[in-house]
Formats: sequence, structure tokens, C-alpha cells
Amino acid sequence: MQGRVQYQSIQQDDGLYFYDFNVQAHDQKQEILAGLKQSPKTISAKYFYDQKGSTLFEAITCLPEYYPTRIEINLLRQYHEQILNWAGQQCVLIEYGSGASTKIKLLLDALKPKAYVPMDISKDFLFDCAVKLRAQFPWLEIHATCLDYHQGATLPQQLPSDFKKVAFFPGSSLGNFTPSESLSFLKGVRTTVGDDGAFLIGVDLVKDSSVLNAAYNDVQGVTAQFNLNILNHLNHLGEGNFNATHFSHHAFFNKQENRIEMHLRSDLDQVVYIFGEHFVFKAGETIVTEYSYKFIPEQFEALALEAGFESKRMWSDEGKNFALFWLEAAN
Ligand code: AVI
Repeated sequence: MQGRVQYQSIQQDDGLYFYDFNVQAHDQKQEILAGLKQSPKTISAKYFYDQKGSTLFEAITCLPEYYPTRIEINLLRQYHEQILNWAGQQCVLIEYGSGASTKIKLLLDALKPKAYVPMDISKDFLFDCAVKLRAQFPWLEIHATCLDYHQGATLPQQLPSDFKKVAFFPGSSLGNFTPSESLSFLKGVRTTVGDDGAFLIGVDLVKDSSVLNAAYNDVQGVTAQFNLNILNHLNHLGEGNFNATHFSHHAFFNKQENRIEMHLRSDLDQVVYIFGEHFVFKAGETIVTEYSYKFIPEQFEALALEAGFESKRMWSDEGKNFALFWLEAAN
């Protein structure tokens, strides 16, 4: 990662820094082609998040059926003083996959951190959000860092040192990793925050299938648009000719694996070209676009411990749908 850094700094004297740990087009090509050659064909969920996909995801978070965001925001509102007690004054707050969330504004108000490090793969979106945030929080030093945190995170060297590092990973995005990726991600965060660091993480909990199925099959069809948009993003990256109207959204809760599965189902026999290669689809064949794992609290805590974090506190709603965990580095 270090070798590929392309450093840009904008309005440095104004407290806004922007770093681009450039995601290599070559890596994306290899990853996309390898995924489409797998059985079942797979596209990594990270390709949802071009500019349009990020905007659609923000729309999903406002849907009546999509409970995680609402509950998590309520938990942050309700328990912000307790969170401040755990974090202490003047931490360096590092957010993985920052987006445009209102959650971070609640946390910034509550913690008044020394510096905030939003990390996101979507460069333009990250930049726009950082500029807006800076206008809203003029006292805050922002180090916006464009990277693919799936490949690990490199903190900018310009960050103020000697302050407690607190990572924030809301929205149960951990659920979008496979179990082994989750473990290595948590280990990576443990290395990033160091021996005095902590981790505030939002986790979606196992619950009744009907609630989960509704959350990923909203009546307005926003999740379907979000799912299908991944094909437009791929077309853009690899001069592809996916026709999104020839695929359908398909999402369901897989009880054996405790995960939502999102697929794109081919409506007909078709051949698609991308990155100069062709891919044959049979009618009814699906591409896996996302797994969204749901957790049992004790299992999550055991996973965190394996990664070097001790769970100190869990806050959840009355129905135990969603939880925020405060993890401290275990030494
Ligand atoms: C970002 N991630 C946690 C969302 C989820 O629920 O797994 C992405 C999403 N996919 C469909 N709706 C929302």
C-alpha cells in the first residue's frame, strides 16, 4: 500500500487534508474477472459504491424496512455520554467506509475528537463529504483518506500522534465480509489503533427471517436499483456491455449461514463482454453481489477476542435487532 501512495493535500492550512492511496485499475480488473470466472459468478460488494451507488445506499438507509441505520442512530443518541466516557477527550477518530452519514456527526458532537480520519473507496463522494463536514465542524481537523480498506488501512503520517485512536465501523458493514475476512479485518483494525486503542462497531443481529427479508426487498425497489447499479459501474470500469434490464434483483435470508444473500439473476440466456472477455449466462443463473452476515452477540465477542479486542460494553435496542459494541485493545 505504502508504495502506491499518491498524496494530495488540499487547503492544508484550513485543517482539511486529502490523501489518495490510489486504487489501481489493474487490481480491479483482475479482481472483477476472477470473480466472474468463479462458480457461482461473483462481484465484490465494494463495487456497489460508485457515486450513484453511494447515493442509492444513502436512500436505503432512510427506507422504512431498513431498520439498522435507524436503530444505530438511536443508540448513538441515547448512549453518547457513555461512549464519551469510554473514548475519553481528544481521541483521533478513524471511520472505515465513511460515506455521508449522520452517525458521524452525532459522534463528532459527542466526542469532540482531536482529528477525524474518514476512509472511503469512493473518491469524489469522500471529498464532497469531507468539504461539507469541514464547513459544519470548523474546529475539526479532517484527514480524508481514499483507500480500499478491504486491503488494509494505512494512516496518514501527518496525523497528530500521542492521542488515543478510536476506530468506528458503523452499519454492520462487517457483515459484508466472509467470516475469515472479518477476522483479518478486525486484526487489521487492532494493529491500526494500537495497544491503547479502541473500536466502536455496529453489528446487525440474527432475528426473524421476515424482518430481514423485508429489509433487503423494500417495496419502493431502491435496494433492487442499488443491486443492479453494480452492473453499470462494472461497464464503466471495464468497457462492459451488461444490460441491467436483463437482470433481476434477488435477495433472501439463508438461515444455515446466518446471512442475507443478494444476487442478480439473469432473465435470459445471454453473453456479456467486459475487459475484452466474454461471459455466458444461462437464464436463471445468478451472480452473487453481496453477503450480509448477521451475528449472535456471544459469537461476535469471541471473534473480536480472537482478533485482540476485549468487548467491554454492548448497547442494543429493546428488540435486540442491532447492537453497538465498545471493544478495547486486549494486551
Ligand atoms: C453496507 N452494508 C452493511 C449494507 C448491508 O445491509 O449489508 C449494504 C446493503 N445491501 C443492501 N442493503 C444494504
